[in-house]
Amino acid sequence: MLVDLRTSWHIGMVEVPTRLVLAPMAGVSVQAFRRQGRRFGAGLVCSEMVSCAGIEHRNEKTLGYLRVASDEHPLAIQIFGSNPGTMAEAARMVEAAGADLVDINFGCPVRKVTKTGAGATLLEDPDLACRIVSSVAEAVDLPVSVKMRRGLRNGSRDCLSIGPRLVAAGASVLTLHPRSAQQMYTGTADHSLTEELVSLVGVPVIASGDITSRARAQAVLATTGAAAVMVGRGAQGNPWALREIVDGDATEPSREEVVAELVLFIRETVRELGERRASGFLKKFYAWYLGRGRFPRPFKQELVVLDSTTEVERRLIAAAPGSLQLIEQLEAGLPSGGEVTLALPISAFGGG
Ligand SMILES: Cc1cc2nc3c(=O)[nH]c(=O)nc-3n(C[C@H](O)[C@H](O)[C@H](O)COP(=O)(O)O)c2cc1C
Repeated sequence: MLVDLRTSWHIGMVEVPTRLVLAPMAGVSVQAFRRQGRRFGAGLVCSEMVSCAGIEHRNEKTLGYLRVASDEHPLAIQIFGSNPGTMAEAARMVEAAGADLVDINFGCPVRKVTKTGAGATLLEDPDLACRIVSSVAEAVDLPVSVKMRRGLRNGSRDCLSIGPRLVAAGASVLTLHPRSAQQMYTGTADHSLTEELVSLVGVPVIASGDITSRARAQAVLATTGAAAVMVGRGAQGNPWALREIVDGDATEPSREEVVAELVLFIRETVRELGERRASGFLKKFYAWYLGRGRFPRPFKQELVVLDSTTEVERRLIAAAPGSLQLIEQLEAGLPSGGEVTLALPISAFGGG
């Protein structure tokens, strides 16, 4: 049976308007990415993982991740850590920042995170994982979600034993990326585990992994019974993929549209991170975006070596002058102000 991705569903009191969730991705999920995701049909967006230790120490860069714009809702902010008390404190900050959900990361496979006992490591310490979830759930009024992998090692089915326990501890939604941490991003996501998890818990499950087309999204929703699909890599520099998945609109964007979206993305990211951080951060996005719009190959390489984002913008617009009008339209559609920020010095927010 075909699932209509334009139907809403609920996580606790939070209404999610579509069945597509934009994945949290470290080094990618800046505000511009999330706002764009919402415009192109994501019903829920998520920040990249934020260190609870960074929040505890009021690290300026970390606190910058807690900035929420009025057009992002519903939005989850994801936290990681291994100490229940510190995670609860971080969750309170997430709530104060104006997020709609607090998401807990039990999936990160990266050594820098796992060696601290956080991320996917917690799948092998279910008691501690449950204590983290219950102290976070007690600390905030927001629904708590947990994002996890299938387990630490290849072939692991730990997600199925731990999933119901996390729900009993207070999780209102589970996201499963059914690869092992050991697999990183190799092989394929085994969504037969997602189907099993759905049958074991009474809360919505979000299916993450290898959703890159409407056909795949429909197949995973139909076979697993998941409430929604999550899209990560497929949306990098390609918001049009979200539109195709949600609405079935597979129209290829024109060169002007590609340039307009990329220029808006650049401007917003510079505002969020400041020119210095943004210019390095944005380089990977140039290649991702310019895969569409029939740009000559050397053009991407030329952009990457330019010193300033202003110069990148100038080159982009010169390659598609008709994009100027589209950029104006996009900017006019953005809400002015309306950002929720914590009562912290403005310098805490990078480009602020
Ligand atoms: C660059 C990158 C960064 C990621 N960062 C996070 C993260 O901060 N938190 C998280 O829960 N998952 C993270 N993930 C995993 C994604 O959210 C998603 O579960 C995974 O990529 C599988 O989905 P996909 O096949 O649609 O990309 C990251 C993935 C990538 C590729």
